[in-house]
Amino acid sequence: MKKRRDLVLGIETSCDETSAAVVENGTKVLSNIISSQMDVHRQFGGVVPEVASRRHVERITVVIDQALREAHVSLEEINAIAVTQGPGLVGALLIGVSAAKALSFATGVPLISVHHIAGHIYANHLVKPLEFPLVALVVSGGHTELIYMEGHNQFQRLGRTRDDAAGEAFDKVARLIGLPYPGGPQIDRLAAQGSPSYDLPRAWLEPESLDFSFSGLKSAVIQLLHKAKQKNEKIVLPDLAASFQQSVLEVLITKAIRAVRQTGVNHLLLAGGVSANSALRTQLLMRCEQEGICLHIPPLELCTDNAAMIASAGTYLYYEGKYADLSLNADPGLALVSSST
Ligand code: KG4
Ligand code: ZN
Repeated sequence: MKKRRDLVLGIETSCDETSAAVVENGTKVLSNIISSQMDVHRQFGGVVPEVASRRHVERITVVIDQALREAHVSLEEINAIAVTQGPGLVGALLIGVSAAKALSFATGVPLISVHHIAGHIYANHLVKPLEFPLVALVVSGGHTELIYMEGHNQFQRLGRTRDDAAGEAFDKVARLIGLPYPGGPQIDRLAAQGSPSYDLPRAWLEPESLDFSFSGLKSAVIQLLHKAKQKNEKIVLPDLAASFQQSVLEVLITKAIRAVRQTGVNHLLLAGGVSANSALRTQLLMRCEQEGICLHIPPLELCTDNAAMIASAGTYLYYEGKYADLSLNADPGLALVSSST
C-alpha cells in the first residue's frame, strides 16, 4: 500500500527572517526558503521592529510561492498551513499570521498555530525522529529555556531565564566591544582566538535551580571595560570574548545536564540560534559523551529561524486535529506551556 503523504506548508515571520517551507510527513524538508533581513538591521545595531514588518510584507508572497515551486507542490496538495503565532515581534508575526489565514480561507486547508520554541525543538526532528522522553535546551535571541517532553505536543517547562536570553547576552556584549549585529557569531569567532583569562561571574542561582540569569554577567563586562578605561589598561578582546562565552556555556551545560539527571531521560536536544555556537556544540558533546547522554544538535542551517521547523511542529498538531480558526491573532507573549514545575 502506498504510504500517505502529508504535506504541511510552514510560515515563519517572528523576527527578522521571512521564511516558508514545505515538509512531508513532519520529517522530510521539500523546501525551506529563508529571506534574511540581517543586512538591513545591521546598520541599526539590532532588529528595528517597524522595518522588519515592512520587509516581511514585501517578501512574504514571493517566499511562499518559491517554497511551493521548489517543493514541486501546488497549494491544492497542501494538507495544512502551519504558522508561528508567537512569541516574537507583534508586527512581524502579524504578517505571517495574516498570510496563513488568507491562504487557509482561500483554499479551505486547515490552519495550525505553532509556538516558535516548539518549532526550534522540532528542527531536530527534521534530522532524526525525536525520541521521548527528552529534555531540550532552547537557546535563542529571545529565549533560554529547559523543556521536558514526554511525547509530541507535550511541553513542560523546567527552567527559564529570569532576565536576558543567552543570545541577547551575546548580542549585547558584542555591541559593547564594538562588534556588528548579530553579535553571537562574532563572539564565537573572536573567542576561538583567545583564552578565558578574565574572571567573570556565573549565575548559578539557588542550588539545583534550572533557571538562568545573564544580566549580571553583562553588567560585569560593562564594569570590566569601564575600569580598564579609567586605568588606561588595554583589554585583550579575544580573551574577553572567550571569558564571556565560557561563563555562558558553563551555566548552560551544567544546568542542561542537571535537567537530564533530574528527569531521568536519556536524550538531550539543543535548539535555537545559539546552538550554532561552535564551543557550545563541542563542549556539550564532550560532556554528554562522558555522562552517557544521547545529544541531538540540529545542523547549522536549521539552528536559526526557518519555516521547516514550524511545518514539522505543526504536522503533529495537525495529526491531533488541533486546528486554529480565522480569529487567530499574533501573540508576542504566547506561552508554550500552561504550567511550569
Ligand atoms: O533562534 P534565533 O535565530 O532567533 C530567535 O528566535 O531569537 O536566534 C538568534 C540568536 C541571536 O542572538 C544570535 O546572536 C545567536 O542566536 N547566535 C549565536 C550564534 N549564531 C547565532 N550565538 C552564539 N554563537 C553563535 N555562533
Ligand atoms: Zn528563533
